[in-house]
Amino acid sequence: MKPLILYSTFALTAMINLSCASCTSEKINNSMNDKTDVYKILHYASLAGSSHNSQPWRVEVYPNDSLTVYADTTRLLKVVDPKGIEMLISVGAFIENLDIAATALGYDAEITLVENSMNSASTVAGIRLRKNGSAQNSELLKELELRTTLRIPFDTLDIKEDDWEKLVALSPGNIHFIPSSSAQGVFIANKELEAYTIQAFQKEAQDELANWMRFSNKDVNTKRDGLTPAGMGIKGIAGFFVRNFMKPEDSKKESFIQSGVDKTKKQVENCGGWILITTEKYDDEEWINIGRIYERLNIACRSLNIGFHPMNQIVEVPQIYKELSENILQGKEIRFAARIGYVSDFPAPVSKRRPVEAFTVFH
Ligand SMILES: Cc1cc2nc3c(=O)[nH]c(=O)nc-3n(C[C@H](O)[C@H](O)[C@H](O)COP(=O)(O)O)c2cc1C
Repeated sequence: MKPLILYSTFALTAMINLSCASCTSEKINNSMNDKTDVYKILHYASLAGSSHNSQPWRVEVYPNDSLTVYADTTRLLKVVDPKGIEMLISVGAFIENLDIAATALGYDAEITLVENSMNSASTVAGIRLRKNGSAQNSELLKELELRTTLRIPFDTLDIKEDDWEKLVALSPGNIHFIPSSSAQGVFIANKELEAYTIQAFQKEAQDELANWMRFSNKDVNTKRDGLTPAGMGIKGIAGFFVRNFMKPEDSKKESFIQSGVDKTKKQVENCGGWILITTEKYDDEEWINIGRIYERLNIACRSLNIGFHPMNQIVEVPQIYKELSENILQGKEIRFAARIGYVSDFPAPVSKRRPVEAFTVFH
């Protein structure tokens, strides 16, 4: 994804608590008590990750618990994702969470993907929920609440074979693990930094990113999407400064961009390995499938105390992508890249979500 600074941070290091945003169990349980199961399932679905936290999904719910899920093309990142591939990956992540939440609440979700969804009014899937009588599985719901993107430096320890094998087993053939200490791992780290830097200095990508920056507390709490100082790991005095004195436009300033590049250097140098997700096919259904795999991986990493940080600039910047495909996993279409590594003190999720009503029409 994109960019710039954004996924960056300031060099200042004063500490501030990462207060969990909207998603602690207690808060959710209190505010969800009087909601229908479908509402709850959609809430948990919306905790999925998405590029720039654009939350590009839309849902229509019909009385017999059937749902139609759409890609919200008004939220497409036209510059860094002109073909809408990452948008569909994000909707796939939403569908994966929806499926898990339905299971957790005692439903089977029959999911039918629409072929060529972008040519079918962006209709991605029809979903029928059927109650199956199983008891609620709070553990599964908790896993959805705890999943998060982590942009802190990770431990550089090798990922244990047992652990990376578990991750790859989630979708063998699609998921590839590359240790950061290997020659290929070093190559990916260098190319990630190069791709980030190229994109960070591209005017159009900067403009697009600025549109998704939520700096002030007011913006964070009213828009409930996009990239916030807490989500970008901008803490302490720097966080105070950004929240109170910076405007999204300021993210295009050289100093902010450079701090993002510096931070990215630390990120790529501090991890235990890289995850690449590949596909054999090139169609809308495949992007949804990749989104489902990404979400599952991110959830599984959390349960193994492994931090997970998508870094998709390497796929988005054409000249770097070309070098990547010529050198790594030749013949396969790499569509998603993430840095992973052990984390001793896992912070709580901080990224905001829009309420269910903001993306759903109940008929
Ligand atoms: C397709 C896709 C691409 C992404 N690319 C990046 C990226 O390049 N850099 C990054 O820091 N985060 C990236 N992310 C993570 C999102 O920014 C993150 O999911 C979103 O801000 C919500 O935060 P959360 O995952 O903590 O809930 C990506 C996510 C998706 C689904």
